[in-house]
Amino acid sequence: MNRAADQPKPNPLREGLSARPVPQPCSIVIFGATGDLTHRKLVPALYNLAADGELPPDVVIVGFARRNKTDDEFRRDLEQSTRKFSRQPVRDEIWNTFAQSIFYHQSEFGDESGYTRLAKRLDEIDKSHGTRGNRLFYLAAGPDQFEPILKNLKAASLNQTCRGSWARVIIEKPFGTDLASARELNRIVRNSFAEEQTYRIDHFLGKETAQNILVLRFANAIFSPLWNTHYVDHVQITAAETLGVGTRAGYYETAGALRDMVQNHLIQLLCLVAMEPPTDLSADSIRDEKVKVVRSLRRWSCDEIAASVVRGQYTKGTINGEAVLGYREEQNVNPASQTETFVALRLFIDNWRWADVPIYMRVGKRLPKSATEISIHFKKAPAVLFNKDLRDLNVLVIRIQPDEGISLRIHAKVPGTSFLIEPVKMDFHYGTSFGKPSPEAYERLLLDAMSGDATLFARADEVEQAWAFVDPIEEAWCAKKGAPELFLYPAGSWGPEQADDLLARDGRAWRRL
Ligand code: BG6
Repeated sequence: MNRAADQPKPNPLREGLSARPVPQPCSIVIFGATGDLTHRKLVPALYNLAADGELPPDVVIVGFARRNKTDDEFRRDLEQSTRKFSRQPVRDEIWNTFAQSIFYHQSEFGDESGYTRLAKRLDEIDKSHGTRGNRLFYLAAGPDQFEPILKNLKAASLNQTCRGSWARVIIEKPFGTDLASARELNRIVRNSFAEEQTYRIDHFLGKETAQNILVLRFANAIFSPLWNTHYVDHVQITAAETLGVGTRAGYYETAGALRDMVQNHLIQLLCLVAMEPPTDLSADSIRDEKVKVVRSLRRWSCDEIAASVVRGQYTKGTINGEAVLGYREEQNVNPASQTETFVALRLFIDNWRWADVPIYMRVGKRLPKSATEISIHFKKAPAVLFNKDLRDLNVLVIRIQPDEGISLRIHAKVPGTSFLIEPVKMDFHYGTSFGKPSPEAYERLLLDAMSGDATLFARADEVEQAWAFVDPIEEAWCAKKGAPELFLYPAGSWGPEQADDLLARDGRAWRRL
């Protein structure tokens, strides 16, 4: 038998395209369908996929929520919000076709009969819309609803698949509030869905630039020899926002910046920067390497926490020329709130590659600029020849958002007769190099979940390890005696000055963004 003849012939039209799994027809059931996330992010993301021709035509969206609504009312609400929040302008002809595949299912989350009705409805949709028994359940409801939803999906056998179809569940953040609650939630999820059916969202992983970190590191041989303690002086990660808490005080008051941003998004970015090369590009190979980074994060004693972590809260100030309220004056915030809206950390990864390289992270609301970036600061060249008087280091900057791109600071001779040396920037901008806007994180993540690719989703052990790192900090902050201070900073500043001291003590400074 000719084996070569058995192999499917490569499609010449797909040459050069990634070998990414293809999204499959399915019903996407969104729990919490009348909420903010569905209107601002999920449906606009699905619309954009449809508009770009990325969404298989046999994908149906079923909104599951408590309020009474007809399919048409639901479609009209979504049309309004999609027009407002979509990445690209909504085109009537595309919306009209897209909207035909949207349905509304009214039920309480805790009402078992609502799920039996849902199962029946999904069977009918399979027949009428060719969704092939594939189901993607998106838990966009409040975390207190996760348990009843998961239990009832199981009771209605919606977690099971038959004849080559699949059932998957996407779980929105926050995934627990500490290690114990994350473990408990993992146990509840496992009761209904196996790990390979579970997709825990961290939307930072869906950002184009976050994905590019792995490409930058592992598709460019020049960086690999330098990416370690021998050549890297230190690393900085900043996620700054001009926005305040807005209308989210109910959630934010119990979360704070450490739980809201560091435990998930920033630690995920750090993993991508610091991980070892995976053996292959499978989801688990990549996640195996990421979890090792989190496990290697140095754990601190209480005193060390005070010296290595700075927490802050914004007071009133000015953002882009406009006066804004302080955190404690915001709607639904306790006037004596101790919730942090800013955190800066100086941490270490105790492994062979990163031994003794300080990693400085900061995240905050009401800072002067919205920008997320990672910078790798390389060690000084020996102080001979040109380097005696140079103060600046070579810095590789990965701009996650906005103005997505990468730049490298090098030293160059200023043209002229003298030997003046100045730092200059080699710059790559996504926008100009590729001439097309990057998709939104949720577009990529939804597509991956439809394709069964969990690479950009957090695995149970990653989430638990990240909580194990964060918990002692939260405990130290809550201690009755000797808790590290909460420092105030005016809105529109770069956080409390103690965050600058964290670096100044090491003879360093935050990069100016
Ligand atoms: C969310 C946090 O996960 O991420 C928000 O809950 C934060 O507080 C947001 O504003 C930042 O995401 P992005 O994509 O706007 O940078």
